[in-house]
Amino acid sequence: MTETVANSLYERGFAFLPKHAAEIDASVAIRQIGSVIKLAGFDTLQTLSPKLQNEATPNTYSGNFGLDDFPFHSDLAHWARPPRYLALRCINGGIATYTQLIDSSNIVDLIGEVELRRTLVMPRRPQSGRKQLLRLLERFDGAFWAFRWDPLFLSATEECAEVLKQVALCIAGLNPHRCLLSESGDTLVVDNWRMLHGRSRVADSDVNRVIVRAYLEDIR
Ligand SMILES: [Fe+2]
Repeated sequence: MTETVANSLYERGFAFLPKHAAEIDASVAIRQIGSVIKLAGFDTLQTLSPKLQNEATPNTYSGNFGLDDFPFHSDLAHWARPPRYLALRCINGGIATYTQLIDSSNIVDLIGEVELRRTLVMPRRPQSGRKQLLRLLERFDGAFWAFRWDPLFLSATEECAEVLKQVALCIAGLNPHRCLLSESGDTLVVDNWRMLHGRSRVADSDVNRVIVRAYLEDIR
């Protein structure tokens, strides 16, 4: 199973496992895929459900966009080292609400690796008391490229604002892959260093959609 996950992540930047171990607990089922990491300030497993804007914590996607489309982003893009993978597991499915995916390699091809590497962005709020400049595209562990993107939590430096506009235009012009988490156990694993993701508008049928999210460092 995990060879397939690893292959799919390598080939497409994500892997979809229909009804993965649907009968067992989410924490056990996700740990069959990879090593789950605990990040500061986050539960190991986080429960995600649609919220109206005025019912959600202000500094969150729901607090800004409510039930509307979430913009494409990579998770924790404003951290110095964003988590490598995220897993989304369906607890209560939706029939018309999608997790949309874009491969950042399209952006790198269009704008260029050199340009993106020298593009600097800044967290909108200080991290550990300071605002560290971050590269839009950088290399981790000597081998892996990581693209960071988050219109909500990152802002442009003045000299790089034009490149960020180009990236935003590029994203708007790409045709996303749409993944539906509809059946209990359906699990989507995303390479967070390569792919951008965003939930589509919550359909009226899917207001009770419940997804569990975990961050992974390695695929088993
Ligand atoms: Fe996200």
